[in-house]
Amino acid sequence: MTPQRLGVNVDHVATLRNARGEHYPDPLIAAQTAIAAGADGITIHLREDRRHIRDADVMRIRAMIDKPLNFEMAATEEMVAIALKTRPNACCLVPEKRTEVTTEGGLDVAGHRMALAPMVKRLRDAGIRVSMFVDPDWNQLEASAEIGATIVELHTGAYAQGKPDELIRLQQAAGLTESLGLECHAGHGLNYDNVTPIAAIPEVMELNIGHFLIAQAIFDGLPAAVRRMKALMHAARGE
Ligand code: PXP
Repeated sequence: MTPQRLGVNVDHVATLRNARGEHYPDPLIAAQTAIAAGADGITIHLREDRRHIRDADVMRIRAMIDKPLNFEMAATEEMVAIALKTRPNACCLVPEKRTEVTTEGGLDVAGHRMALAPMVKRLRDAGIRVSMFVDPDWNQLEASAEIGATIVELHTGAYAQGKPDELIRLQQAAGLTESLGLECHAGHGLNYDNVTPIAAIPEVMELNIGHFLIAQAIFDGLPAAVRRMKALMHAARGE
């Protein structure tokens, strides 16, 4: 099976830092530590309210890591401008406002094609890979392909909450991505106990995992948490 990448989301290192208004723990050091332990990329989400990652973090992390940076962002002019200035390897468009969210939580690409298509084009024209964070739903996949996205990241939140049939929906959606010309990623709510069936889906090329790894780092340290997650992913793919 094609090797699967692990993107480590370091947002919640910044959450902890901001809780005390200190300069530590530093999400850049977390990113470098995760990479040294085997992370294949780093994900950060610059929220409109800057509740965890801040603008200066984006610049520092972009400049100081030697693996791909996946920049999660709302579909707004402000964020597109920051992405065009920062030039991450990939941008993942995620919902932040209720109107952009479907009931399950992914971005409603199908309902916002006209607004999203020009943003996707501007990012792609700048050489940035563009991902849509969507529920495992045909309409969302088809719309993502139609507006020119490179990647869909399937939202695994409902699966992680134990919703029945969700694994089948994810497997089926992943199986449709290739024919649509989309690379398939997955993420949200993944942990040691639930990662295996998702990592085993052949089309899923990348998992993005944050909250659990940062939480587990409290007990085991970040390098051990990253190494264990990668070992589980390898095992799931029979490597
Ligand atoms: N992928 C996307 C698009 C996300 O927005 C998030 C959450 O920031 C994640 C993956 C990671 O989710 P978690 O922190 O639950 O692992």
